[in-house]
Amino acid sequence: MTTPKFPDNFLWGGATAANQLEGAYNEGGRGLSVQDVMPNGLMSAPTPEPTEENLKLEGIDFYHRYPEDIALMAEMGFKVFRISIAWSRIFPNGDDAQPNEEGLQFYDDLFDELHKHGMEPLVTLSHYEPPLNLARKYRGWIDRDVIAFFEKYARTVFERYQNKVKYWLTFNEVNSIISAPANGAIFEDEIEVSLADKWQAAHHQLVASALATKIAKEINPDMQVGCMVISMPTYSMTPDPKDQLAVRDFMNENYAFTDIHARGVYPGYLKRHLREAGIEIKFGEQDARILKENTVDFISFSYYVSLVQAHNPQNYQTAAGNIFRGIPNPYLEASEWGWQIDPIGLRLVLNDFWDRYQLPLFIVENGLGAKDELIADGADSFTVADDYRIDYLKAHLQQVGEAIEDGVELLGYTSWGPIDLVSMSTAQMSKRYGFIYVDRDDNGQGSLNRYKKHSFHWYKEVIETNGASL
Ligand code: BG6
Repeated sequence: MTTPKFPDNFLWGGATAANQLEGAYNEGGRGLSVQDVMPNGLMSAPTPEPTEENLKLEGIDFYHRYPEDIALMAEMGFKVFRISIAWSRIFPNGDDAQPNEEGLQFYDDLFDELHKHGMEPLVTLSHYEPPLNLARKYRGWIDRDVIAFFEKYARTVFERYQNKVKYWLTFNEVNSIISAPANGAIFEDEIEVSLADKWQAAHHQLVASALATKIAKEINPDMQVGCMVISMPTYSMTPDPKDQLAVRDFMNENYAFTDIHARGVYPGYLKRHLREAGIEIKFGEQDARILKENTVDFISFSYYVSLVQAHNPQNYQTAAGNIFRGIPNPYLEASEWGWQIDPIGLRLVLNDFWDRYQLPLFIVENGLGAKDELIADGADSFTVADDYRIDYLKAHLQQVGEAIEDGVELLGYTSWGPIDLVSMSTAQMSKRYGFIYVDRDDNGQGSLNRYKKHSFHWYKEVIETNGASL
């Protein structure tokens, strides 16, 4: 193992999403988002109205407590903080004529607070939280109209924050839409949705992402726009060439999204895949040109698990994961939620993306969801002895160091959920990722007080030494 050497301007920090921490779902003129009716996680059925059991409605009350929380991130030395803008705070119904000034002002204040502490905001435009109206009045992203609504939203926030935000991501985990259509405001439990519809929605998001990149550059060429995907190195179950081919097919379905974002054209393997599935994507007249002319500045991704695939996966049991699943890997241990832990996989992903695109990369999510126990720390304080989290992050960051040594150009690393927040896949509070513990349980009970875990002090030292302490 080499001693990791991170670049001098490396962006260390943490990543969050509005729907998982802001709360205040009906304050400040905000409209409902799809998450407000999904009390059991992204892959579950929506309810007709928001229900009390939905922990995301209150989140961790970041909306009211963000100055205190950002001060804690600053204490760890964060250089960057990833948030998402809740689209429904800006355009409450998605299709409104005018933006909501109170929503715009909230993010103005939040960005000012970050800059006060010398932190760079990294902002996702759409993190699994489109306005609910787009799902109920339209067919979500299956409808082409949604591109124009998104364009207007993107233009509004780019214009407003052009001097406050340099780094932008368009769609969180854009490659998840086929498996998790709620990402695209598509409720399969409420409308009939075919596979062709899902690919059409994916196409619309790809075009919208390219249009957002175009608009950003027109407004301020210094703004850097990236795509964001779930990354998953995938191993072959056996040396059988058929299994190897199955791995390639599986990876291609995901590479398609970065290929289109980075190269601006639909790759041949995707065209073939769609053709053989009998799917014909309807291209608008300008779509091919829009994709070609507006490729991204950098590639960002989340990394949690690696997968194993085979040509006959039905013969094996399935491993757990957030959206994509494979076959359990006997060489790897798993988290309490069954997600298999593979630090070397992160080095592989970094090298693969770098070799493929030669574009700067950004790790914008990585971390361990675990149950934490709050214990006494002196007379009147509490902490969590989360050495398991430190072990996980340390092993991953060491592999990041190896990848940098391999020659990969990496802008930064934001661990997922630096402060505990509500889980995306299970909507639980008990699945915690933070360096900061938030006192709230799965029933919504708790003081919402914040406590520093052991990992807080560990991460502070990692940042202070620019990774040399790893
Ligand atoms: C990513 C999402 O897939 O995984 C986040 O972008 C999510 O929103 C994270 O929280 C971890 O997943 P979970 O289900 O443990 O919250």
